[in-house]
Amino acid sequence: MTPELIALTRPVSASIAECELTHLSRAPIDVVRAAAQHSAYEAALRLLRVSVIQVGAAPELPDAVFIEDTAIVLDEVAVITRPGADIRRRETDAVAEVLSEYRTVLALDAPATLDGGDVLTMGRTIYVGRSGRTNDEAIARVGAMLGPYGYRVVAVDFAGCLHLKSAVTAVAYDVVLLNPAWVRASAFPGYEIIHVDPSEPHAANGLRVAGAVVFPEHFPLTRTRLEGRGLHVVTVPCDELAKAEGAVTCCCLLFSV
Ligand code: GLY
Repeated sequence: MTPELIALTRPVSASIAECELTHLSRAPIDVVRAAAQHSAYEAALRLLRVSVIQVGAAPELPDAVFIEDTAIVLDEVAVITRPGADIRRRETDAVAEVLSEYRTVLALDAPATLDGGDVLTMGRTIYVGRSGRTNDEAIARVGAMLGPYGYRVVAVDFAGCLHLKSAVTAVAYDVVLLNPAWVRASAFPGYEIIHVDPSEPHAANGLRVAGAVVFPEHFPLTRTRLEGRGLHVVTVPCDELAKAEGAVTCCCLLFSV
């Protein structure tokens, strides 16, 4: 039987304009427009036959929509993170409760800090970016937790953006899309590399799902590169969410059951 794909999502919070920002200047965010874009994203996932399950809204937590940062979900187990931004640690309990219906749930604790946006899983290798949100204690701890399940954890340095997956994502099992100004291609030996269009530095974040790549519609030049490689691209509007330093992987936790 084909496994069912589940995407956990979380509604856009009314307080999203108060979100954490690290590399972007604050710009006004239209909450209604951001919520409409999030709904379009969920609709795109449903069209790809993904079951979308919403975790309860957290209106007082500005970044709750970026649910990816709260967990690492693998086939065998899930790890609840300890996000690097203090206020974001309050996002994890509700996600852990829902995830525990599907996976054995482990958890990181202090002094480890880790955002799921810094975690790129490709096969049995888990690349973890060292960032302002993710520290070496977390990388070591994740390695110790997931080694027994057959995963190898590799630390990756990057610069210039919030998360590792702002700089690089997997767009096929053997292909990565990256911005070479933010992360070295040599960190991903053996993978085919597609560079973002230089005029679209934020375009390295695509969500690989069900044979397609869900991708921001505001990066048409990089989209052309993906399609030129033969990849099936499904575009979604997300420029309003991008003002909160979010992108397409950030808005769900994707796993199969
Ligand atoms: N605004 C997304 C984050 O900083 O985590």
